[in-house]
Amino acid sequence: MPQENIKTMKLYHQVERVFNELTALGFGPGDPIDVDTLSAFDQYHYLGTEAVDEAARCLRLQAAAKVLEVGSGIGGPSRHLAHRYGCHMTALELQADLHRTGEELTSRCGLLPRVQHRLGDILDGVSPGGFDGVVSWLTFLHIADRQTLYRRCFEALAPVGGLYVEDFYARGTLSEAELRMLSADVYCDHLPTLDQWDSGLRSAGFESIRIRDMTLPWTDFVAKRLGAYRTARKRNEKLHGEALVQDLEHFYTTMDRLFALGNLGGLRLWAWKPTE
Ligand SMILES: C[S@@+](CC[C@H](N)C(=O)[O-])C[C@H]1O[C@@H](n2cnc3c(N)ncnc32)[C@H](O)[C@@H]1O
Repeated sequence: MPQENIKTMKLYHQVERVFNELTALGFGPGDPIDVDTLSAFDQYHYLGTEAVDEAARCLRLQAAAKVLEVGSGIGGPSRHLAHRYGCHMTALELQADLHRTGEELTSRCGLLPRVQHRLGDILDGVSPGGFDGVVSWLTFLHIADRQTLYRRCFEALAPVGGLYVEDFYARGTLSEAELRMLSADVYCDHLPTLDQWDSGLRSAGFESIRIRDMTLPWTDFVAKRLGAYRTARKRNEKLHGEALVQDLEHFYTTMDRLFALGNLGGLRLWAWKPTE
């Protein structure tokens, strides 16, 4: 997947903006940071660290569990799982600027090497069989080749390891305009139905698949996020510059519209690799 194409999604513009937020809080360059302070700015998904706690609960993650995060962004969920639960994380990220920013933040949180950052594409695979858990937030939506993706996750897991995913699904029939918005602004060209999620994971070998519908809380979340961003426009323009604020407002508006139309759905799922 060419990295530059994914940058059509404006959430991924100027990811170093997290450093502006830290400066505003009084942190100098290179100062140590605590994970809980950072978590207000480093979770690129819905409902913040609550959603990460849910993964730990569903997969029954214990201290020292080896966990792979697929599409780790700037590392927020991986740092939270390492800090709060003692997991040993591999944070795999496709985009070099997000990967670099994530690694710097992890180092400033004193969490290297408990969180190891890797730059790469999940479709190329990771070392097989080594993980007790594979977790992922809002990443699968970028990957159209689901068969290979599910197989890579399955291969990465040890027997009885668990997969936890938060992502999108087709809840209704999306119009041409909705599909265009998803493709152009969210870098999402493939949206399975709930049945297709279930059957795809089963064909890869997963069992005991549980799916929870998150559409309503996510619809509410994206509407409030947009409202709060608009209210703070002046403050954000001063901190990050007008261009970035326009980009992010465009992205937040797109997500609000798509969920409000009711055909885009959100899900939380977990599933298990059987014993050999
Ligand atoms: C919405 S962000 C979520 C980041 C992180 N999971 C979080 O919740 O904070 C999705 C991330 O997945 C990454 N990604 C997309 N396709 C990928 C792939 N094939 N392999 C690895 N990472 C990928 C993107 O670059 C992006 O950083």
